Amino acid sequence: MNILVIHGPNLNMLGRRNPELYGSMTQDELFDALDSHFDDVDFVFYQSNYEGELIGVIHSVMNEDYNALIINPGALTHTSIALRDALEMLEIPKVEVHLSNIDQREAYRKVDYIKEVVDACFMGKKLDSYIDAVEFLLNKTVV
Ligand code: DQA
Repeated sequence: MNILVIHGPNLNMLGRRNPELYGSMTQDELFDALDSHFDDVDFVFYQSNYEGELIGVIHSVMNEDYNALIINPGALTHTSIALRDALEMLEIPKVEVHLSNIDQREAYRKVDYIKEVVDACFMGKKLDSYIDAVEFLLNKTVV
């Protein structure tokens, strides 16, 4: 099974952002930990701070061979109808993840444009949010 993992704005700064909310791992450490947790999954990791680039990558998935997509859109979760519309077009299984629990934070983080176009959302468990997402996809996807 191969999974594209997409990170939105500021997630390249993990390790230097509020560790209580986001954990102390850097983005590379998080990606490595996920990779070594699942021997049978091939991951491709992508991060951008630019909405248009993220949308371009999601469009390109339509011509590629991924079995599933995991996305942590960062703050674009709460603002981007464009990202939501791009994700809606994808027919492969899609899961939204967050390191922190966006339902228990500021009111503006409770707005989530992404959740209605994905199959599931895991949040609030830092690395384990991602592990739960992969396990969900392994159970859902027969390859
Ligand atoms: C986040 C939550 C967002 O509200 C925030 O803007 C982020 C990280 C998370 O993983 O908890 O950048 O997506």
